[in-house]
Amino acid sequence: MTSITQSMLEAIETELQHQVARLDQPGTKPFHEMLTYHMGWTGEGAGPLATGKRIRPLITLLAVSSVIDKEEKQESNDNYWLHAVSAAAAIEMIHNFSLVHDDIQDNSNLRRGRRTVWVKWGAPMAINVGDAMFVIANQSILDLIEHYPADMVVKAARILNNCCLDLTRGQFLDMSYEERNDLGIEDYWPMIGGKTSALLSACTHIGSLLGYAKEKQQEAYRLFGYHLGLAFQVQDDILGIWGDEALTGKSAASDLVEGKNSLPVLFALGKNGKFANRWKQGPITVDEVSAVSALLEDEGGREFAEKMSEEETQKALDYLKEANPQGAAGEEMLGLANMLLKRKQ
Ligand code: IPE
Ligand code: IPE
Ligand code: MG
Ligand code: MG
Repeated sequence: MTSITQSMLEAIETELQHQVARLDQPGTKPFHEMLTYHMGWTGEGAGPLATGKRIRPLITLLAVSSVIDKEEKQESNDNYWLHAVSAAAAIEMIHNFSLVHDDIQDNSNLRRGRRTVWVKWGAPMAINVGDAMFVIANQSILDLIEHYPADMVVKAARILNNCCLDLTRGQFLDMSYEERNDLGIEDYWPMIGGKTSALLSACTHIGSLLGYAKEKQQEAYRLFGYHLGLAFQVQDDILGIWGDEALTGKSAASDLVEGKNSLPVLFALGKNGKFANRWKQGPITVDEVSAVSALLEDEGGREFAEKMSEEETQKALDYLKEANPQGAAGEEMLGLANMLLKRKQ
């Protein structure tokens, strides 16, 4: 890890703790602990693995830092990105709010190698935890006012809120698809474009805005994030079936058991072979998962998804080139995009 990434990750963690501390009030300590548990700071198994990767806030700050042309902007310095840290924290809080609710929606027991909030405290409490995180995110982005003019703060907040609406639309499609068996690959992209790419594109869009990029450059950054998000979710689908639970910290059976129309599944359904036959007969049981995932691999579902993930990464890299990121942060962002394609967790 380079020193810039290290410094950013440390600043992100400090800011997140500061933002979540808004809830550290007398009389509701156990509520605050539910949030700090999910964030990975307290409870059993707390530590670096339990916090998640923090790639969204990191990408946001790398975007800020990679736009600034030090020669042009007198006031900029090496740590300019620190001005945007509350926006990075806001994005990570939105991500975590969506995970707490997603685990209820997907009936998932395991997240980052630990019991999910709803398993530990029940779904009604977990909904409230997610709600609090959502509000903290919106308070956090407004803290930008300490370092940015009001019109930029409003713009950043508007991007974040629009992205949340897109995210809920994506989640709607994801859940409604569980009931359907008439779907094709073309139905997949708008679903993940909402549930995953909306937030990753908000990272690079808001980051470039806060780095004072011009409109056209912001658009290239935004599209970089969008396609990176598509590649990221395809990879998540692959890991959701063939991943190592010890590394992903999530159950490798749940996507198939939940009947998720992930990309490998949609591809194999189109082949109308043995996998499609079994899928159409009703829910896959836990005992069947290893045989069914082997069938899915034999019929090309995994290979197809890997190819699509590579294609989307390439599109992302083309937009990144157009965005023309500068300096160490620019190099770091390129490295991160390539690393995400090969990720195992
Ligand atoms: C998980 O995202 C949810 C998806 C959009 C696939 P991450 O894999 O970034 O989760 P953490 O934050 O590192 O746990
Ligand atoms: C990720 O959904 C998107 C959101 C949480 C909004 P998934 O359900 O595909 O992600 P994991 O696999 O549970 O992390
Ligand atoms: Mg989900
Ligand atoms: Mg899920």
